[in-house]
Amino acid sequence: MRWFVFFPVTLAIVGGSIAFTGAVAGRSDQGAAPVYVTQIPPGYRDWRLISVAHEEGNLNSFAAVLGNDVAINAYREGKLPFPDGTMIAALHYSHTPSEENNAVFGREQSFVPGPPTNIQFMVKDSKKYAATGGWGFAHFKDGKPGDEAFMQTCFPCHEKASRDLVFTRYAP
Ligand code: HEC
Repeated sequence: MRWFVFFPVTLAIVGGSIAFTGAVAGRSDQGAAPVYVTQIPPGYRDWRLISVAHEEGNLNSFAAVLGNDVAINAYREGKLPFPDGTMIAALHYSHTPSEENNAVFGREQSFVPGPPTNIQFMVKDSKKYAATGGWGFAHFKDGKPGDEAFMQTCFPCHEKASRDLVFTRYAP
């Protein structure tokens, strides 16, 4: 008599755990692993200015932050989250004193972009890059993409930005 009670319950538990395992496997099959951007978006150098930034510490760099039309429109309209198709570039250069300009000033006053250090991108595609908040991250040094371990650092830090993973505000 007891079997009539236990058997279906056991079956349900076993069945349930198979279904659960199946769901987990299914999810990882669909590419929950982060996907990075490995091609430099064409035409990025013609995008428009969002803002500039200067970092000290080990980097000692200038950044020009540019956006494509979708990015610029979203910023100007205050649209958050950023729509799919948004692309933001951070072009980094070493922060270098200008001998030519300083000779005119008579003291070390002028700093200009030195050689490029790297270019970074954030590309919004909420489906393709679902595992990293809808943003595909890209980093290129001398035209070569960053390695996997380095690329894993982008999302956990950008997740701390309060405006859809983007730190830079629009400079009027
Ligand atoms: C430790 C935190 C941190 C990590 C790691 C990091 N970033 Fe950022 N990122 C920032 C901050 C803060 C800014 C804005 C200030 C600045 O530009 O210096 C920024 C700016 C950017 C911007 C301009 C858009 C924005 O959010 O302001 C892009 C594009 C970008 N980062 C891409 C990347 C990529 C690609 C990686 C990984 C290779 C990466 N970042 C790793 C903190 C981080």
